[in-house]
Amino acid sequence: MKICSISENKKFEKRISVTPETAKKYISLGLEVSLIENYGSHLGYDDNQYKELGVNIIKDEKELINKSDIIVQLALLSDDKSSLVKENQTLVGLFNPYNNKDKINNLSKKNINIFSLELLPRITRAQSMDVLSSQANLAGYKAVIDSFSNFKKAIPMMMTAAGTIPPAKVLVVGAGVAGLQAIATAKRMGAVVFATDVRIASKEQVESLGGKFLTIKESENLETEGGYAKEASEEFKKKQEKLLGETLKKIDIVICTALIPGKKAPLIIKESMINNMQPGSVIFDLAAVQGGNTAYTELDKVIDKNGIKIIGEANILNKLPVSASSLYSQNVFNFVSNLYDKESKKININLEDEIIAKTIIK
Ligand code: NAI
Repeated sequence: MKICSISENKKFEKRISVTPETAKKYISLGLEVSLIENYGSHLGYDDNQYKELGVNIIKDEKELINKSDIIVQLALLSDDKSSLVKENQTLVGLFNPYNNKDKINNLSKKNINIFSLELLPRITRAQSMDVLSSQANLAGYKAVIDSFSNFKKAIPMMMTAAGTIPPAKVLVVGAGVAGLQAIATAKRMGAVVFATDVRIASKEQVESLGGKFLTIKESENLETEGGYAKEASEEFKKKQEKLLGETLKKIDIVICTALIPGKKAPLIIKESMINNMQPGSVIFDLAAVQGGNTAYTELDKVIDKNGIKIIGEANILNKLPVSASSLYSQNVFNFVSNLYDKESKKININLEDEIIAKTIIK
């Protein structure tokens, strides 16, 4: 079995799917690994480092794709590159199936096996493959770091002879994987942290990290069987608006992470709420790519509304691509090794395996 990866469009994506560490693991598993020339050089992994491990470095993308059985990527290949993929080849990546439906359907009609890792079930056996968690965790951390560096005051409380600096107050909206890491990071740096979520189950997790949970009644109704959030009712939204509107007047930094799989991100922080915030406050909207949780979020822009900064970034993971690639490539390796049958030395698409059945797009 031959596995390969080609360069992503580096304007949007700096992460890679095969690090030297995972290349070594694929080779030990019995796979032949090929990468495009200069694949990891922007992250400090030069071609020689891969070659020394036994990786083939190929100059021509067409040749590389043509000779491979499995292609592992971050994003879906561009149309010209997709046209090079043939029947029975396997594509693994984060293909954004809700937004790329037509492109993915066209590939699967060509009998290409497409596995999109956003669709992984949140079961214990899939934890080592859970790209959403590994990447959201880093995103939550980095959103806090970037917000703090945009904030013009100190974060922890400081009692000095010259006077006392109060601790910064942080609100985390959405206490899933990114939100919980944001809470932990902000707490570690000395902030006072509040959090809210529509899933009541998150209350205990928030409190175990030292955050104060802002409860909105009826939240117990808003969790799906898979552990994700359901869209909130109008009544719920009104109650949430009232609670957050009051809270935000005293908050310095907001980290937004609220998402509903396959849908536009819920609009939670309305114009009137932002207008009531203190100048100098910072909002980091991690939901920006899905439309944002605030009324003013714009993708890849820092909006200034009366001295309040609203930061929306399409891919915050590009700011720590080495760590993000390390975890992503490890997740992908774990997924591919579950798919690979060591005895027959072939891919085994066993649809009785929940992990395979839920991630394959047919
Ligand atoms: P996500 O990225 O889809 O959403 C982020 C958070 O936003 C969620 O906690 C969601 O409840 C919240 N949210 C949605 N709408 C909201 C609103 N209107 N107001 C406030 N909050 C809102 O979620 P993520 O981080 O992917 O986690 C989803 C679930 O999966 C969680 O229950 C998590 O604990 C669980 N999980 C389970 C794993 C496992 O292996 N068992 C691994 C990782 C996550």
